[in-house]
Amino acid sequence: MSVSGALARRRSIRAFADRPVDPALVRDLIVRAGRAPSGGNLQPWHVDLVHGAAMARLKARMEARMADAPMGEGAEYAVYPADMAERFDARRKGVGRAMYAALGIGREDAARRREVFADNFRFFGAPMGLFVSVERGHGPPQWADCGMFLQSLMLLLVEAGLDSCPQEAWAIWPRTIGDFVSIPAERILFTGLAIGYRNEDAAVNRFAVDRADPGEWLTEHVE
Ligand SMILES: Cc1cc2nc3c(=O)[nH]c(=O)nc-3n(C[C@H](O)[C@H](O)[C@H](O)COP(=O)(O)O)c2cc1C
Repeated sequence: MSVSGALARRRSIRAFADRPVDPALVRDLIVRAGRAPSGGNLQPWHVDLVHGAAMARLKARMEARMADAPMGEGAEYAVYPADMAERFDARRKGVGRAMYAALGIGREDAARRREVFADNFRFFGAPMGLFVSVERGHGPPQWADCGMFLQSLMLLLVEAGLDSCPQEAWAIWPRTIGDFVSIPAERILFTGLAIGYRNEDAAVNRFAVDRADPGEWLTEHVE
């Protein structure tokens, strides 16, 4: 598969097939994603991979935690800027609108919307997931490096016939996840990533996610 083919096929998958994933394969892809570039070659990503019995324990723990604290524990970083310009907010709302429309969930149905959000914490049914954490002293350049690592991994997963969903939603559970995978105090949980095979039939995997007109973000300087 070409890089273009992998880019075209990758999408955020929010319903996974009940099909096991070979841990050795994913471990190999994670190691290969470590070829991602990083400023100064710092390679600032830390990865905790969860599957097997550990995944079952994590899912059970999350059900208990969500029953205690449906809104989470409080994120340690702002997933979105407090004061977001209208065009960014419109893009964020746009993907939510498209997803809920595909699921046939109306604006007023807060309970079902909450349930869809809660599915993040079941890794959307994926048999595998990972968490990326970063040193607290590291700044935006190192977080950007983690993004390059993640995109490299997501494309390698597609090449191997697998799918994924990056999940910053996990940021609302820093203590539960920090405790579960033993993230030391000097690191901060950045994101989760669900890994598995897509459920081809699920409506949540089939809606179109538009991209902004490049004129909104691409400027060419020629003269
Ligand atoms: C760092 C990062 C975190 C994300 N967190 C979540 C999340 O918590 N839950 C979710 O359903 N989607 C999450 N997404 C998926 C985005 O909504 C998605 O990438 C975007 O809407 C574009 O759609 P696509 O990935 O299908 O092309 C995240 C994406 C990124 C890059």
